[in-house]
Amino acid sequence: SEINVTEELIRGIRGIHIVACGSAYHAGILGKYVIENVARIPVNVDVASEFRYRMPSPLLSPDDLFIVISQSGETADTIAALRLAKSKGAKVIAITNVKGSTISREADFAMHTQAGMEVAVATSKGYLTQVLCLYMIAAEIGRMRGELDVAQYAAFVENLKKLPKQLEEVLADKAVVQQLASQRFMDVNEFFLGRGMDYALMMEGSLKLKELSYIHSETYPAGELKHGPIALIEKNTLVMVLATQSALLEKLVSNIKEVKARGAFVVAMTQKHNKELLQKAADVVLELPDAEDLFAPILAAVPYQLYGYYTAVCKGCDVDKPRNLAKSVTVE
Ligand code: AGP
Repeated sequence: SEINVTEELIRGIRGIHIVACGSAYHAGILGKYVIENVARIPVNVDVASEFRYRMPSPLLSPDDLFIVISQSGETADTIAALRLAKSKGAKVIAITNVKGSTISREADFAMHTQAGMEVAVATSKGYLTQVLCLYMIAAEIGRMRGELDVAQYAAFVENLKKLPKQLEEVLADKAVVQQLASQRFMDVNEFFLGRGMDYALMMEGSLKLKELSYIHSETYPAGELKHGPIALIEKNTLVMVLATQSALLEKLVSNIKEVKARGAFVVAMTQKHNKELLQKAADVVLELPDAEDLFAPILAAVPYQLYGYYTAVCKGCDVDKPRNLAKSVTVE
């Protein structure tokens, strides 16, 4: 309701650009997969500090919809990207958690995540609610452009409404994540792998570990490992694999075998109904509620946020104020 764009505008756009920084950028990547899946319109996602300096200038037309994402609404690079997009005549939607923030005020439409005030430097509920807003935008664009019929739209909304209860189930299982963190907090390197939407989610899982516990980790599309990074796998290297997309499960099982053959310790995460299949390949399988594929990655965000948190606690790091970080990067 906050984004009162007309159906005519939505039907007329040729493409969507999503621009943000850090975890907000990761939310944008996941949003790309959802919007392209549901609304069948091309989505380009860019880091704000890259977008604003595209040479000779970013390729943007008045027929593009421009979405900026920012928890604080004050990130300098994202503000600059918003202003650049407006100067090129694009319609700008902001997804932000702070009403009255610069980005909230300067966008043509502002969608507020209503996550409540986020105090800790590392975002958690901010990221989760940004992703949810992108799901809602995907559904509205899909409906307006005739890609979702009434029944499909209603089913989509019903799946979103199931999430709070499913997330309660995930939180009830947090001891399993805490135990894993207590076994792995001395790691120096960890890998986060996934395919499709799971790869997008793992970007944030990896960043949470880095910024909270200072353990180096990398996210790769699981199919990419054999193109070089697999050289880094050695005995007992921890490889996290998120596997919620049924069409990609077999591929992920072979990726798990690939890294295990090189000595990796693999922790997979999947919905309950896939657990048995993954148990044949991975060392540990963390279980998610039986959500539909399109919605399962949202549930996976919380265990990986908790994993970064518990690992930081085991290492005695300051979870609320990690070293070198600021809550809002208001300078370039
Ligand atoms: C903090 O945990 C985030 N990792 C950080 O990258 C943040 O997402 C980024 O600085 C953007 O902040 P914003 O959402 O307030 O614009």
